[in-house]
Amino acid sequence: MNAAVTIGRTTFANPVLVASGTFEFGLKFPSVANRLGGVVTKAITMQARVGNPPPRICEFPGGILNSVGLENPGVEKFCTEIVPRTAKLKSRVVVNVAGFTVEEYGELAARLDSESVDALEVNVSCPNVKEGGALFGQQPQVVEAITALVRKETTKTIIIKLTANFVDPVETAKAAEAAGADGVTLINTLFGLALDENGRPFLGGRSGGVSGPALKPFALFCVDRVAAAVKIPIVGCGGIMNGQDALDFLSAGARMVQVGTASLVNPEAALEVWTGLKEYSARNRLTGWEQLVGRTRRHGGGESKSDVRS
Ligand code: FUM
Repeated sequence: MNAAVTIGRTTFANPVLVASGTFEFGLKFPSVANRLGGVVTKAITMQARVGNPPPRICEFPGGILNSVGLENPGVEKFCTEIVPRTAKLKSRVVVNVAGFTVEEYGELAARLDSESVDALEVNVSCPNVKEGGALFGQQPQVVEAITALVRKETTKTIIIKLTANFVDPVETAKAAEAAGADGVTLINTLFGLALDENGRPFLGGRSGGVSGPALKPFALFCVDRVAAAVKIPIVGCGGIMNGQDALDFLSAGARMVQVGTASLVNPEAALEVWTGLKEYSARNRLTGWEQLVGRTRRHGGGESKSDVRS
């Protein structure tokens, strides 16, 4: 079976990516990165950022909370020092970009347009910053404005990374689609709070973003709903730990998946996810991913019985 997946102008050799912020720039483990569909970089902002104070990670039984605060070298240093190295990777490089104003997203897209990277993942969903991030992603009209501006500034594939924090991602996905996005990533982490034994916030940034297995059922629910509402491809993300989890996201309607938290525990996790998918497709003699993508709805059952605003 041809395992390739195309989103916008970008063809990925297979449907498995590593999620932003969990694999740096793919340079530490090139033998893993080279066998995946691609690497989504840590978020890049206009200016370099030191990020939030420590502690930045807190484990809990269902996953982790992170509060990194978009630490990154800034777009100039990224372009001059990192892109020449990521360009040597055999898989696709998707640059996650985050702005603090609508205009900054346009500036980032314009700066990266001539660089040797394959696609942009437009981050309107970071839970760990006071401006931009999830605040932008909660407003469909802002998502639409950012997407339209990025679309104007770049010919590269653009995938909007959405939040499901206090917003219905159906509305923001529709806004992204209307403004020219090639795809959407669903979902970024959910807001969370961890306390120490004295009842004080554990994380240096106070609150954080929840990721890992606890996120999966809700992320899957979001993908299933959004897949019924938009035509652009969905990249599923949220608690994917193994091939079966990835299969679930494809069944719910995602065309590609991202492995995040699992890579922090095991840098080869995404490869193992890809092996699991490959083995399933061989066992079941699949001829194309379209046999899997969205099959949950083809099995019938219609709408959820839960009361969901739409
Ligand atoms: O804190 C962070 O850097 C997280 C980024 C994100 O979730 O997009």
